[in-house]
Amino acid sequence: MQNKKAIIAIDGHSSCGKSTVAKDLAKELGYVYIDTGAMYRSVTLFAMQQGIISDGSINENELKARLGEIHITFKYEPEEKKNETFLNGVCVEDAIRGLEVSNNVSAISAIGFVRQKLVELQQEMGNEGGIVMDGRDIGTVVFPGAELKLFMTASPEIRAQRRYDELNAKGEEVDMESILQNVKQRDHIDSTRKESPLIQAEDAVVLDNSNLNKAEQLEWILNILKERNLA
Ligand code: DC
Repeated sequence: MQNKKAIIAIDGHSSCGKSTVAKDLAKELGYVYIDTGAMYRSVTLFAMQQGIISDGSINENELKARLGEIHITFKYEPEEKKNETFLNGVCVEDAIRGLEVSNNVSAISAIGFVRQKLVELQQEMGNEGGIVMDGRDIGTVVFPGAELKLFMTASPEIRAQRRYDELNAKGEEVDMESILQNVKQRDHIDSTRKESPLIQAEDAVVLDNSNLNKAEQLEWILNILKERNLA
């Protein structure tokens, strides 16, 4: 009998490798990967482009009024073998990963009406199963009935180093200290905000990957899925 097409929810701190694990897992299982952080980042980019956010201050009324103008889609790019994020038909994959978006995204993702819109969209994208979705509230709010919930974490210093290497490889000029501050600040905002704070679901399995490589993490998760007859 074929295994049920499950919903796999991966939550956890920023820059702890959730998306790498989620992508590997989706590929292994033949599932669709959905990066919900990219969706909050796209709303942030839209707000920056439209002058709705400037110098860190957000015009919430305008954002609310113009929320309907924001259309986010994902497309698999076979040549580069990667998922790309599109904002109103334009590929924003690189633009949403820069430091400026990173510095503003926590404030945007703390707004209730933004979360409500994106959660609805995420539920539509995933309700058929066969998905790996990563974010902060997937196991607690978006899919509380997910067949497997993972909560990922690693030390702030290790996460900052990974982020530094990633941005450096793309040629962005960055300094380690501001990356570490950004990681810590996002942790604080994400876990203390009023709307859907980052908390571990009661039935989530914790994966601390400070000392695990990609292959070890994948194997660890596949073992759990096998135990649960999901792989
Ligand atoms: O995973 P990421 O770093 O790309 O996420 C960007 C920001 O979006 C992060 O500060 C937390 C927020 N986020 C959220 O609040 N809820 C989600 N489901 C995903 C991301």
